[in-house]
Amino acid sequence: MQQTDRKILCIGLVCLDIINVVDKYPEEDTDSRCLSQRWQRGGNASNSCTILSLLGAPCAFMGSLAPGPVADFVLNDFKLYKIDISLLLEHAHCSFPASVVISNQTTGSRTILHMNRNLPDVTEKDFSKLDLSQYKWIHWEGRNAEDQVKMIEQVREYNSKQEKHNKITISVEIEKTREPLYQLFPHGDVVFVSKDVAVHFGFQSAPSALKGLYSRVKKGAVLICAWAEKGADALGPDGVLVHSDAFPPEKLVDTLGAGDTFNASVIYTLARGGTLQEALTFGCQIAGKKCGFHGYDGIVP
Ligand code: ADP
Ligand code: FRU
Repeated sequence: MQQTDRKILCIGLVCLDIINVVDKYPEEDTDSRCLSQRWQRGGNASNSCTILSLLGAPCAFMGSLAPGPVADFVLNDFKLYKIDISLLLEHAHCSFPASVVISNQTTGSRTILHMNRNLPDVTEKDFSKLDLSQYKWIHWEGRNAEDQVKMIEQVREYNSKQEKHNKITISVEIEKTREPLYQLFPHGDVVFVSKDVAVHFGFQSAPSALKGLYSRVKKGAVLICAWAEKGADALGPDGVLVHSDAFPPEKLVDTLGAGDTFNASVIYTLARGGTLQEALTFGCQIAGKKCGFHGYDGIVP
């Protein structure tokens, strides 16, 4: 298989987002009308696939799914975006995870109430069945970290037998402030750490978080931290801090999935051989643009 044909694979959550657009955040125990309401395919890894596909990168999603009408909606949407879903795992008798989102278009804020009752994550065993030669990059949304570390070890083992141009780049996202996720730090070639996690560790800016957390990543890795309207920073093995300002849209409308958009745009650039500076700048440009409209389709002209 040609290097250029190999896909970017994102592993993690797909869920249903029920999005309620308001122009004023509701008071508790009131009964108000939304400006609009829509269903959208959600989940970090699934959103990142949407962006990769819109940017024109061949990509695949691996995650779990519970059959039923929500699955039909989600499957159809994956197909619309031409995302390879041959690795989807169906679990009968489980519920489809869903988020109720209040999206305030006056401020751009998104308030998420998420529920995942019983849908299991992708396991090491599921992953062992993959034909890894199809992928040039595999991105893990940090979830069942212990199993994810074992999946990454399988990729390392595969890489050790490949020539340089056939090796798979490994990225991980540590977004939630959950202790078990922190074991992922030393396992990515590229590690995305969120502002939430940085603040949880006591850091007040992206540069200080990167300097403070860099000792946790493996030798040669790149650590990246996005910080909403402050843009994003990155630190690589040369010790030079790279920064991009944010590119705020004329009006902030919807920040749901801004981080997933940023991650995908960074991966897209690095996977094509772009520099870290190019990747950060493009990530902030596309994520900033995304904040100016509802959904994701508007990122491409
Ligand atoms: P999330 O909360 O979805 O994880 P982040 O806050 O990490 O998203 O932001 C990711 C990127 O999205 C930022 O680096 C920035 O480029 C862009 N972004 C997010 N919020 C804003 C904003 N309010 N104004 C401009 N850009 C933003
Ligand atoms: C956005 C998102 C939503 C989903 C929620 C899950 O980043 O992936 O699509 O409902 O986060 O935490």
